Amino acid sequence: MSTDAHHNHSGEAATASSGPRTARPTSASAPAKLILCGEHAVVYGRPAIALPIAGVRATVQVEPATSGGIVFVAKDLRHRWRLRDERGRPLSALVTQIIRRYAGGTEPDARITLSSTIPIASGMGSGAAVATALVRALVAYLGATLEPSEVSELVYESERHFHGTPSGIDNTVIAYEQPLWFERRNDPAHEHPSVLMEPISIATPLQLLIGDTGVRSPTRLPVGEVRRRWEQDRPRYEGLFDAVAAVVHGSREALARGAIAELGALLSQNHGYLQEIGVSSPELDRLVRAACAAGALGAKLSGAGWGGAMLALVTDDTRAPVADALRAAGSAQVLESRVDPSGTRGPGQV
Ligand code: PMV
Repeated sequence: MSTDAHHNHSGEAATASSGPRTARPTSASAPAKLILCGEHAVVYGRPAIALPIAGVRATVQVEPATSGGIVFVAKDLRHRWRLRDERGRPLSALVTQIIRRYAGGTEPDARITLSSTIPIASGMGSGAAVATALVRALVAYLGATLEPSEVSELVYESERHFHGTPSGIDNTVIAYEQPLWFERRNDPAHEHPSVLMEPISIATPLQLLIGDTGVRSPTRLPVGEVRRRWEQDRPRYEGLFDAVAAVVHGSREALARGAIAELGALLSQNHGYLQEIGVSSPELDRLVRAACAAGALGAKLSGAGWGGAMLALVTDDTRAPVADALRAAGSAQVLESRVDPSGTRGPGQV
């Protein structure tokens, strides 16, 4: 699988010792991600499917500068900082790690410009996408190339350091830019569950619209609430998680056959289970209802819930009316993306 890092170099590779004087600008991007189906149940050992959202991306440029070490310019946040002044930031720490590995610890004079169209704190992997684009662009700037597995690992380490125990979905889907089946297997012989991540096949392009409630919802709150409810009534929640698992298996088969209408019905069914699990919200329900009423094949919340994003499966004919309906129903913005057919090359068991 190829990455999209461009090393705009006219032949010779920049090395750590040749440093900024010979380095050429580089840029790289990385997609957002969404959970197509299976969120929450996945925490309890059931499978989930995650998708790269190619049309919504983070982009990073690295350009040589004459002095001052590394300067970050975060365009969307209108913020600028020098690596040496703010070493505690997650992106500073990631850059320090990359410089240690790929430039012998010598900080080059360079400007790193970050920009992204991915809504933050909406379950779309904005942090992992910015980190992925940064790893690709900076490593290329330093004259090295990385496999997706190496990019994924660097981003995972960075997320783990700053966000506790990430599931590994975001960095993997984003670094490979591949639809992924994800399953934690609780093996009684091992203290920690093993994690199965494998690429899935998609027979026909998927057209998705993404509605944004504009409500920022930290993942741990609904996840904690579901845990509380599960502890109080395990049979009910185990039953709901099994029902979600059946939807996820059905969705995988529908994707492999290109049975888009069937997939749409399964997604709407998954939304119904998420409502019962208790993680939808009036804003999410309003957007899901509006999308379906305007002709979407199916719609559901995506991610942890109580806010953040929802997705709607559309066709050429329904894309425009569904987008209008989402805006009229209060979507802060409507993003569009296509998921192209894919085979099953990719990360395998990680
Ligand atoms: O919204 P996100 O991408 O943070 O997804 C949360 C997914 C959950 O299943 C709710 C939690 C998890 O760790 O898998």
